[in-house]
Amino acid sequence: MNFSYVNSTHIHFGQGQISAISHAISTDQKVLVIYGGGSIKRNGVFDQVSDALKHHQWIEFSGVEANPTVETLDKAVALAKKEDVDVILAVGGGSVIDGSKYVAAAAQYEGQGWDILMGKHQVTEALPIGVVLTLPATGSESNMGAVITKAETQDKLPFMSPAVLPAFAVLDPDVMKSLPERQLINGLVDAWVHICEQYITAPAGAMVQDGYAEALLKNLNVLAGEFDKRDNDAWRANLMWTANQALNGLIGSGVSQDWATHMIGHELTALYGVDHARSLAAVHSSLLRNQMQYKRAKLEQMGQNVFGLAPSPELAEQTVEYIERFYESLNVATRFTEYKGEKSDAINAIMGQLELHGMLALGENQAITLDHSRQILEVVV
Ligand code: NZQ
Ligand code: ZN
Repeated sequence: MNFSYVNSTHIHFGQGQISAISHAISTDQKVLVIYGGGSIKRNGVFDQVSDALKHHQWIEFSGVEANPTVETLDKAVALAKKEDVDVILAVGGGSVIDGSKYVAAAAQYEGQGWDILMGKHQVTEALPIGVVLTLPATGSESNMGAVITKAETQDKLPFMSPAVLPAFAVLDPDVMKSLPERQLINGLVDAWVHICEQYITAPAGAMVQDGYAEALLKNLNVLAGEFDKRDNDAWRANLMWTANQALNGLIGSGVSQDWATHMIGHELTALYGVDHARSLAAVHSSLLRNQMQYKRAKLEQMGQNVFGLAPSPELAEQTVEYIERFYESLNVATRFTEYKGEKSDAINAIMGQLELHGMLALGENQAITLDHSRQILEVVV
């Protein structure tokens, strides 16, 4: 097991912590506050941020949409350059944070920002980023990844760079009080799949990573089972911290990682507008069954250590059924039920995009070729 691990994001966790940004950003820095469609104006988060920045010089950019588009974000890049801002403060969920990472990187680059997603520009420099998280789900508040969409061509692509790892992130569970139930459920599901993508791979005998991943999965299973307690402070705090830890680099260190459910799910979102988390739940169990020969050992381990199942020849399949049950208990479909058109049209469209995006050998073993993706989609759509 070989790895280098650092996560330097300073986390300010707990009720009332939004005020911490007044000290986290020095007053001689000009701040660009980036946010989404306006939920922060209705739930008091914007007022708390304004109050914390009352001694700072700051400007704002709003309107970053869910699954943020380069078309919108390039306007923020132009603003950041014109106003010569020093720091970006992202106030929102994964979309706003990812969008802010793109803006922070593209503001330090003279070419077209989309080059970053095409791999034509490796991001080594970016404006520093601070975050006020409003939706626990993606872990973007303390990781190096971002996923950006080009609406014109329906491309949804990721990029990673240590330069966009946020300098600090405020995680105040009170912001979750205004979350629609659908988004709260999306958060549970997305965090769950993040852990699975780093855990249900080849056994590496990594006791710390496996044990921690299992603890996080058990948390999410308990929180889903106690969904009627979602208005309780401890429930909210536990979800927020679990979703953060699910994708902050730790459990993925030194182990192989999958991410094929995400790559196929991204195409469902880009083509059909499916919520990110729901695209994952639609693909996940079909993919696990398709890759059973590689995933059997970890599925058996998960069955015993997360779900408390007894060893048996059927254990791996039983674990996949329990994973489906987790989604179903939250009323999240385990197939692409939102789609009402011709099955073959959707499969051909998704396959075309996967091929275009070079998703030719996905998964921890690069074993998910286009043929496998098609087999997976035959069950999903
Ligand atoms: O636009 P606003 O008004 O903020 O409303 C948002 C949006 O409509 C709303 N919302 C957020 N916080 C709220 C709230 N409404 C009421 N009260 C609050 N406190 O929720 C809606 C969805 O927000 P969004 O940011 O899109 O959700 P999420 O956090 O699930 O982010 C999804 C995006 O993250 C990417 C996904 O692909 C998707 O684009 N991901 C990023 C990852 C990363 N950077 O590591 C990993 C993930 O796998 C994922 O791919
Ligand atoms: Zn995700």
